[in-house]
Amino acid sequence: MPERYALILGSGFTDYLPEGKVHELHTDYGAPSAGIIDVEIGGQSVLTLARHGPDHSIPAHLINYRANIAALKALGVTSIVALNTVGVIGDICKAGQLGLPSQVIDYTWGREQTFFTGGAAGVKHLDFTEPFPAGLRARLLEAARRARIDCYDGGVYATTQGPRLETAAEVDRLQRDGAHYIGMTAMPEAVLAAELDIEYACIALVVNQAAGRGDKPIHYDVAASTETARAAALALVAEFFGSTVA
Ligand code: HPA
Repeated sequence: MPERYALILGSGFTDYLPEGKVHELHTDYGAPSAGIIDVEIGGQSVLTLARHGPDHSIPAHLINYRANIAALKALGVTSIVALNTVGVIGDICKAGQLGLPSQVIDYTWGREQTFFTGGAAGVKHLDFTEPFPAGLRARLLEAARRARIDCYDGGVYATTQGPRLETAAEVDRLQRDGAHYIGMTAMPEAVLAAELDIEYACIALVVNQAAGRGDKPIHYDVAASTETARAAALALVAEFFGSTVA
């Protein structure tokens, strides 16, 4: 079966308004964050969804992740490339660079994190050993190499609840836990995709050093780093989708 790709856009893409046919869907779980726009990227049609809504008005802890993933599934999506801004704890990447995490730790709470809620929906204990399937990650890394885009291979993404950023002590704890990146959105997005048999990769856009790690205030150069990381991410997805045209 040929792949049908979706691109989930996160923070930093509010003014990136792709044009194309818009699918307005309603799912059993409610409405997705925004209309899903069919955009041509790298010569193929890609379904794009603004995770935080078209005007970035939905904070990470209030996103209807189930509606987003169910809507993409209903449109036939088999593979999701997700763009997630993160802070970095150590020195695997600098602000402005990209990473492709290979693992996740979930610190979120109170989010709907399964389609298998019991009763008629059933119960399932998903094997989530590899939250970001190796095949899609490898294809993205190859595209990064071809386009000469710096992209760190691997690392652990800690998903925090937000909307506030972490305390310095919390970052120390996340580091002791083995985390490299901190963001607010990869979970439950990744697990819900896996539950519906959709392969999922996270491109982490590093926009700041984690709390207590830099010598400047955390927001000091977020805007500039976001701009740099965003340009790299858009170049990467253009190369990637351009090389996967069916
Ligand atoms: N922490 C949590 N989420 C984030 C950060 C951070 O430092 N930067 C961007 N998203």
